[in-house]
Amino acid sequence: MANVVIIGAQWGDEGKGKVVDIYTEHAQQVVRYQGGNNAGHTLVVGNETIVLHLIPSGILHPGKRCIIGNGVVLDPKIFLGEIEGLKKRGYMQDDSQLVVDSNLHVIMPWHKAIDLAREKHADRKIGTTGRGIGPTYEDKVGRRGIRMSDLVKPQVFRRKLKEILPEKNFLLENFFGEAPLDEEQIFAEYSSYAQQIEKYIGCCSRSLNKAIEEGANLLFEGAQGTLLDIDHGTYPYVTSSSTCIGGVCTGSGVAARHINGVIGITKAYCTRVGEGPFPSELHDEMGENLRKAGSEFGATTGRPRRCGWFDAVALREAVRLNGMTGLAITKLDVLSELDSIKICTAYSYKGELIEDFPRDADILQECTPVYEEFPGWGSDICEAKSMADLPDAAKAYLAKLEELVNCPAVLISVGPRRDQTIQVSNPFA
Ligand code: IMP
Repeated sequence: MANVVIIGAQWGDEGKGKVVDIYTEHAQQVVRYQGGNNAGHTLVVGNETIVLHLIPSGILHPGKRCIIGNGVVLDPKIFLGEIEGLKKRGYMQDDSQLVVDSNLHVIMPWHKAIDLAREKHADRKIGTTGRGIGPTYEDKVGRRGIRMSDLVKPQVFRRKLKEILPEKNFLLENFFGEAPLDEEQIFAEYSSYAQQIEKYIGCCSRSLNKAIEEGANLLFEGAQGTLLDIDHGTYPYVTSSSTCIGGVCTGSGVAARHINGVIGITKAYCTRVGEGPFPSELHDEMGENLRKAGSEFGATTGRPRRCGWFDAVALREAVRLNGMTGLAITKLDVLSELDSIKICTAYSYKGELIEDFPRDADILQECTPVYEEFPGWGSDICEAKSMADLPDAAKAYLAKLEELVNCPAVLISVGPRRDQTIQVSNPFA
């Protein structure tokens, strides 16, 4: 029995969806434990491209149970839209394949309105996805949130609306100068969502722990990335949840002793969306080339991603914070055209060489990258099926990454399709 966590090792968008999809073969249950529909996992299945924001990508495998844990924040409209889209394409024919934890917090219209209004009026913008994620987590911690279990009880939902909405409307109208929201409309719309969602509601912790007792393998599907973690990331340019390993236990109700493997997903280069420091960012033509070659546009917002060289300083941080046991290195094929490739191995800060990732975003902002340069391989690797199929220069580049961050590669992705994957070792074995 093995329970494996997949965590983004950079600033999100590392290609977690594809890796989760591949590892789902070995697991009986797949769990999302934090974040919400700020995530976007793009999967290529045959000729189809499927983008999922909320439902674990394991849903594409009939018979696998997918759970949205208590640590997730859920937008009911997006959730129901995703189910409809999946069913239309022939997936999720069995409703018992999906469980939504009753304790998770619901993203309400005021969360989205406040998220957008804050970004519009802020001097220092975070570049949020505008999905209401931050304000929902704020209300969760502020003990004025609406949980899924509240939404399905009309009297409780009405009482909470009456308690919460006046304060939100005061803020929207008087502080941000935005239109207030209508209680009746929200009550009717969200009650209708609740009726449709009720059949999926359950307990994430009980379902997972029962599966563990029965000897099942679990796969925990992280969203966003380590450097966007609310505690350990480049605060304040972060998301509002615990994207690191600690989020698994609080967001699912599974104890730490049940976790056997932590796989960090990293691109063979680096990207970031939204604001915030990014030392190895490329502002030149090379950055543009990577964006084009890697189709680096956000799956959720369509925003162009900022692109740069692989940052070993940042990745070492991610390996340490999460206790990563293996790396899945994605998009190696994107580098194939290049004559030479750089890796950021250290930073220079006020003339001093530093090898540890600064914990302060203002310091990180002033760091400049120190690079080592490697020869490119100049040939197409999209059909490589094993390490032996890779050119020597590609193997050398991967070996250097492993050495610099002190973590072995368990999977290499050389294209978006499932079969464009080199599985070096199996984390479930
Ligand atoms: P929020 O999560 O919408 O509050 O956005 C906060 C920050 O996290 C912004 O910089 C977003 O661009 C970033 N972010 C949120 N979700 C993702 C993701 O799935 N991939 C990459 N960046 C993300």
